[in-house]
Amino acid sequence: MKTFKIFYVALILIFTSIMSGCIGDDSAGSGGKSVAICFPNTTPSWQRNGDSLTKLLQEENFSVNIQFASDINQQKEQVAEVIESKPKCIVIGAIDSAAFTDTLEKAKEYNIPIIAFDRIIFDTDAVSYYASFDNDAIGEGMGLYFEAALNLKNGGGPYNIELFAGGPADNNAHIFFDQTMKILEPYFKTGQLVCQSGQKDFNSAAVADWNAENARPRIQKILAQHYSDKPLHAVLSPNDNIAGVLIDELQKAGKPPVLISGLDGDPDAFQRIKAGTQTFTISKDPDVLTAKCVRMIKAVVEGTQPDINDVTTYNNRVITVPAFLCTPQIIDKTNVK
Ligand code: BGC
Repeated sequence: MKTFKIFYVALILIFTSIMSGCIGDDSAGSGGKSVAICFPNTTPSWQRNGDSLTKLLQEENFSVNIQFASDINQQKEQVAEVIESKPKCIVIGAIDSAAFTDTLEKAKEYNIPIIAFDRIIFDTDAVSYYASFDNDAIGEGMGLYFEAALNLKNGGGPYNIELFAGGPADNNAHIFFDQTMKILEPYFKTGQLVCQSGQKDFNSAAVADWNAENARPRIQKILAQHYSDKPLHAVLSPNDNIAGVLIDELQKAGKPPVLISGLDGDPDAFQRIKAGTQTFTISKDPDVLTAKCVRMIKAVVEGTQPDINDVTTYNNRVITVPAFLCTPQIIDKTNVK
């Protein structure tokens, strides 16, 4: 009899585990509270965001299906696929801000809410909320740092500067560059800033797909063609990952450390700031952003109140997406830990 009971319990356990395996990651043990996350894998910071978001969601009893994509076609396929698994919410860090209009029609049909993470998604009313950092403040912060460090307000210069921007398909890259240039442009006019390469517009400065290796041939060429007999004083780098490559090439060319920016607060950037090869970064603490994103997810899934602090800035050409914009932090040698 006892043997029979043990056999019976074992059978139930096997059956339960097979069933949860069949149901899959999306709903097992989470009461059907499943969230899909579709992120790009262009920088280490996306991995940090993914880890932090997954952890927080699991603590709230959500099951998480996280995907990373290297190009827009792969990401569109991933999003289309997760839509078919009908999660309760999909969080997207879009590789191309304007490429999801058609893909998200299906999400609308299935009533799956979408949250745009870090990067806005254009041309669709399928987006419920936008969780990001204050992108205008990031671009402006970079410009103001250069202005102060080079004493431009008080007539400092002339200084040679070269400009790099993020990937053209990402709306953030445009915001960062435009805001920085709003601060710096007057100093090009007065001649206090000089761009020896002449590559001052967004398209010339852009690094395709934010892929740091795409910046390497351009900085090599600029250094060889314009700075073999001139000092380079400053470089605008749109993030830490790209700053790593630019600094590497400056060192190979035997240039002394220049005033150079970054973005994200990558651990490598903190090391470079300590070593004196990178001047500053604008840190985007993943835990701050993901906590706000989880509030949004809970709002669309459970009907709770998200934190929103901006209802005007992010018109995506169809709707104005309610947003929470977190505050970034400038880190340089005075406050790096
Ligand atoms: C983000 C940056 C990131 C970059 C590359 C931008 O949209 O705002 O934080 O460094 O993408 O992934």
